Amino acid sequence: MNTRSLSFRLVTWYAGVLTLVFVVLGSLTLIFLRHYLESAVLDTQARRARQIADTLLASVDRTGEQAITRQVEELYSPQVNDRFIRITGTRGRVLYISGPPHDGTFVPADVARPEAASFDRQGVFERRESVRSGSVLIGAVASRNYIVEVGVSTQRTEETLSQVLLLLAVGLPVGVLIAVSGGFVLVRRALKPVNRIAQKAEDISQHNLSERLPVVQSGDELERLSISLNNMIARLEDAVQSSKRFVADASHELRTPLTVLRGELESLAQDVQLKAHTRESLGSLLEEVDRLAEVVESLLALSKLDAGEASAERVRFDLAELVTTTAEQMSLLAEDKNIRVECDAARNVIVEGDRSRMKQVVVNLLDNAIKYTPNGGNVLLRIARESDNAILEVADNGVGIPADALPHMFKRFFRVDDSRSREQGGAGLGLSIVKSICAAQGAEVDVTSRPGGGSCFRVRQPLARGV
Ligand SMILES: Nc1ncnc2c1ncn2[C@@H]1O[C@H](COP(=O)(O)OP(=O)(O)OP(=O)(O)O)[C@@H](O)[C@H]1O
Ligand SMILES: [Mg+2]
Repeated sequence: MNTRSLSFRLVTWYAGVLTLVFVVLGSLTLIFLRHYLESAVLDTQARRARQIADTLLASVDRTGEQAITRQVEELYSPQVNDRFIRITGTRGRVLYISGPPHDGTFVPADVARPEAASFDRQGVFERRESVRSGSVLIGAVASRNYIVEVGVSTQRTEETLSQVLLLLAVGLPVGVLIAVSGGFVLVRRALKPVNRIAQKAEDISQHNLSERLPVVQSGDELERLSISLNNMIARLEDAVQSSKRFVADASHELRTPLTVLRGELESLAQDVQLKAHTRESLGSLLEEVDRLAEVVESLLALSKLDAGEASAERVRFDLAELVTTTAEQMSLLAEDKNIRVECDAARNVIVEGDRSRMKQVVVNLLDNAIKYTPNGGNVLLRIARESDNAILEVADNGVGIPADALPHMFKRFFRVDDSRSREQGGAGLGLSIVKSICAAQGAEVDVTSRPGGGSCFRVRQPLARGV
């Protein structure tokens, strides 16, 4: 699971907040419940104390103080009911104190006497008294010269609170778990279109800028986002189209003046009265015009490829035959530099595509191999079949390519060593043409190289079906 994903962070945040809310609510519930239960118990005790004061003590003058013990035992049986009852007379004399309760939750003698000053104006004093084994909730009433105290252990209240606590302790994680699972499903569902948009956006490149991202008509931010992105892609498409159109138009427009320029320069050069240095200048001018014409032709070829014209013609042809004849045609170039070109070709490597474009691939790769290999070097062409693919390898033992340049080899106008490549007449467009042709034919091209140890360009094209 990706811990940095939006869904993970949202759900974690949601779970954290939910747990905090539940814990705070649970704690408040416990505090209020304790307060409510204790005050209810205290009120009951105070009422009972008042009852004793009003009934038994009202008639004490008649019955005598000794009768009190019997009457309390008979009417309230404090021991059996786990109650604490104490009746204190004048000067702190204890008239009656109940015995230890059955449940043994407190020792009556441990319960401290109340201060006379603690009673309110109605003569009532409710309190919580700590004893050795816990606490006792006591309602005390001061009436005439007597203080009647009735109490009960807090054990029952504590038990109820523990049960509520247990319920919360189990219920809280279960509640959080259910809420988080629900939240996770919701977030995942809500973010699903984001994944689809991202996937589609990754697939869109300059070659398929006419495609658009899916728009989920949900009326939410995601709909707005995909519409905005689609508008952006449309603007990009427009910009790319106009830049391609500009390159195509410019190179097309440059062709004619260059041809005229070449013709004029050639006719000037034929003038026999020309001085030697003028003839030399004309020669180098002609060379530059040729170079310019080559660049213009390459640009035109690239803009045609961009426009998708490369895949217009699809025929079956033998790649091995194409490579060997091309190598023969280019043998003069190799001979000039005393480079040995070897051809290791399997027979009948039939592929389907545009033959003249594939020839251009071979020409460009072989031209580079010869150009960037010093005199006396070797170039090996290998054509083979590997499972369903035809493989063309152009390997040389020339200057090689530094590792940091390898990822940029197929970019337009990229040259490893600008000055050296310019000397050799290159514009840096040959390999981008190779790449574009390969892409249009469903082929792939890559390169491996070692500086000083030569390079190997490898084209992989699917074999024609049924071969
Ligand atoms: N076989 C090779 N060995 C060493 N370097 C190479 C090889 N092939 C290409 N390169 C390097 O890659 C650069 C780009 O090659 P690319 O064919 O695109 O352009 P170019 O040969 O300079 O010019 P163009 O092909 O347009 O005339 C070259 O300038 C050269 O530095
Ligand atoms: Mg080249």
